[in-house]
Amino acid sequence: MKQPPAQNIADLRAIAKRRLPRALFEYVDRGAEDEVAIDTNRRALEQIKLRPRVLRGVAVRSAQQMLWGEPMALPIAIAPTAVAGMLWHDGDVQSARAAVAAGIPYTLSTFSVTALEKVAEGAPGGRLWFQLYVMNDRDHMRQLVRRAWNAGYEALMVTVDGPVAPKREYNIRNGFNMPITWGPRLMWDFATHPRWLLGVAARYKLTTGIPGMVHHATGPSSVKDPNKSDASLNWDTIRELRALFPGKLLLKGILHPDDARMALDAGVDGIVVSNHGGRSLDASLATIDALPDVLRAVDGRMPVMVDSAFYRGSDIVKALAMGAGAVLVGRAAVWGVAASGQAGVSHAIGILGEEIDRVMAQTGCTRLSELSPHLIWRPRY
Ligand SMILES: Cc1cc2nc3c(=O)[nH]c(=O)nc-3n(C[C@H](O)[C@H](O)[C@H](O)COP(=O)(O)O)c2cc1C
Repeated sequence: MKQPPAQNIADLRAIAKRRLPRALFEYVDRGAEDEVAIDTNRRALEQIKLRPRVLRGVAVRSAQQMLWGEPMALPIAIAPTAVAGMLWHDGDVQSARAAVAAGIPYTLSTFSVTALEKVAEGAPGGRLWFQLYVMNDRDHMRQLVRRAWNAGYEALMVTVDGPVAPKREYNIRNGFNMPITWGPRLMWDFATHPRWLLGVAARYKLTTGIPGMVHHATGPSSVKDPNKSDASLNWDTIRELRALFPGKLLLKGILHPDDARMALDAGVDGIVVSNHGGRSLDASLATIDALPDVLRAVDGRMPVMVDSAFYRGSDIVKALAMGAGAVLVGRAAVWGVAASGQAGVSHAIGILGEEIDRVMAQTGCTRLSELSPHLIWRPRY
């Protein structure tokens, strides 16, 4: 019997769960350590309520947003996610195409399995951002930054919340690593998911070969562990990147208002309030709780975006009403690509767009500029 199409992001997740090997599904779905931060994000969002206005004539609505003077069809952008290309054949390009078709920005991860030039060629005409992890090999980092600019990436998004690798115990139990290291457990997991095995792994094997971490430094390097996160990363590097990259510079992983101020001083063009989708510091506060102080510190001097656990249009409307410029979505898009490639990502964006539109109407707003903190209601305990 034909299944009805996914009605929401949770439905897309359920489809992805059926298709994907367990190791891949859990890599996407789960957090770090005791996985408290995922719940922290969700609970904080759910505790915030919207106090609607009525009788405001909301028949004509638009959720278009402006970012750096350019329009976004919706106030969302696709967050960088390392494995999209392993969830669906050519998943990085497919995801980027869906974003471009929807008129929203797409961020390619340093840890993607598709070269940044190939994604730019495969998804022309849109707003592409390149996410940078700063690794030990700084010469290689500089090359990547130049490549991103030459390939037409509008923004460089430097992830600053990963000085060291997070503790994800289920990956060890599942025998899962990026780049993939083949062990008996993983091979059994892959072999018992034939749709993924044939549609993704076998297709790669028969065409380009199983892809690896294409942005890693290869060949002789003057530094030890060239592809390991550089834990010495500090504001000097951000200032260097500022001078190196002529486009927009974004920092992702800011939670403290003082860091937001320092970002302004370093000349960045925007920040993403993020706790990495609850995948890094498990004791982190919720991003929606971090947002107001950061917004106050920035005081409108650059766009402040936010991510982590935004799975409903109403979640996104809450952040926008508080003053965020846009919301990045990670897993929502990843579940889409894992469920059905480009069409799945388009479907995920469509679901969120439709939900945003409905909540705007329900709260009495016809444009995003009408969303304001007056709509936000928090319980007073
Ligand atoms: C599977 C997966 C891979 C990710 N890979 C990266 C990455 O390579 N670089 C990065 O900065 N963030 C990465 N993130 C974090 C996302 O960019 C984003 O911050 C997070 O997913 C937002 O939370 P959400 O998934 O609940 O929307 C990843 C997240 C997921 C789920």
